[in-house]
Amino acid sequence: MAFPIDRLRRLRGSAALRALVRETTLDAGDFVLPLFIRPGKGVRKEISSMPGHFQYSVDTAVKAAGEAVAAGVPSVILFGIPEKKDAKASGAYAKDGIVQVSARAIKDKHPQLVVMADLCFCEYMDHGHCGVIRGETIVNDATLELTAKTAVSQAEAGFDVIAPSGMMDGQVAAIRKALDGAGFQMTPILAYAAKYSSAFYGPFREAAESPPSFGDRSTYQMDPANFDEAMREIALDVAEGADMLMVKPAMPYLDVLRECKRRFGLPTAAYQVSGEFAMLKAAAKNGWLDEKRAALESLTSIKRAGADFILTYYALEAARWLA
Ligand code: PBG
Repeated sequence: MAFPIDRLRRLRGSAALRALVRETTLDAGDFVLPLFIRPGKGVRKEISSMPGHFQYSVDTAVKAAGEAVAAGVPSVILFGIPEKKDAKASGAYAKDGIVQVSARAIKDKHPQLVVMADLCFCEYMDHGHCGVIRGETIVNDATLELTAKTAVSQAEAGFDVIAPSGMMDGQVAAIRKALDGAGFQMTPILAYAAKYSSAFYGPFREAAESPPSFGDRSTYQMDPANFDEAMREIALDVAEGADMLMVKPAMPYLDVLRECKRRFGLPTAAYQVSGEFAMLKAAAKNGWLDEKRAALESLTSIKRAGADFILTYYALEAARWLA
């Protein structure tokens, strides 16, 4: 069949009709809000490249988590800026580490929130890389020992989900084994399965004070040009025991996201990263884009491509727009 029998405009004639045939919907329940936490008290330090986002101290982070609850956002993911960075990332697995203390405080006040732990070492290493270094090499298997320790420390602190983002080979298996060995068989892993070496992480590195002091992350994060390799990364994480998968960044990698969901069928997340957020904010500030429409369109596109939920700096604003 074809025109003039088929006229696709018939179903676009009114808002109500469009609502009935809409294939993808968004609501506050789709979002995870990232929070950055540093030492101190009463801290609320604006991140210049991410308007509306702040480095918090534990007390103000609990308040920010409360705003998520109030807006209907079910989850937060925590990133820590420790007092001291060193060559062993001690702050990442310290009992009183910055995210451990924060998770306890947030769960205490808001037990209904799903509190996720980003498991990576770049914020905790004095050189800013996501693993142990020898010379200028980021050493995979030595890093996994720290990964295992950190996962247990995070689970002990009350984190509901462990999300490894370091792109070390074997990290999901190392975490599953360590968690099970410590009695945390029920703590799920959200694998940053296909994480690309992306320019779009720029603002995050200001927010988390984690830029690498030499080189870049291209010996462990993925080459943006590769799709087949992403499928291998994802398949390995599934085999190692990932409960949920993530593709990151989101909008430049919708093809990867689509195929990840189609091929593996696991609960799948996408991370709309700092640079994606900053681009929208900057254009909106200049009056070049209608921010609400552009942000909701980008989030819709990410869901349409296959995301079940989205880590996004728009979590609060979008939840309020959609209320
Ligand atoms: C840690 C990590 C990064 C992001 C999330 N976890 C930074 C990086 O890999 O350099 C980026 C998130 C964002 O840009 O919003 N490795």
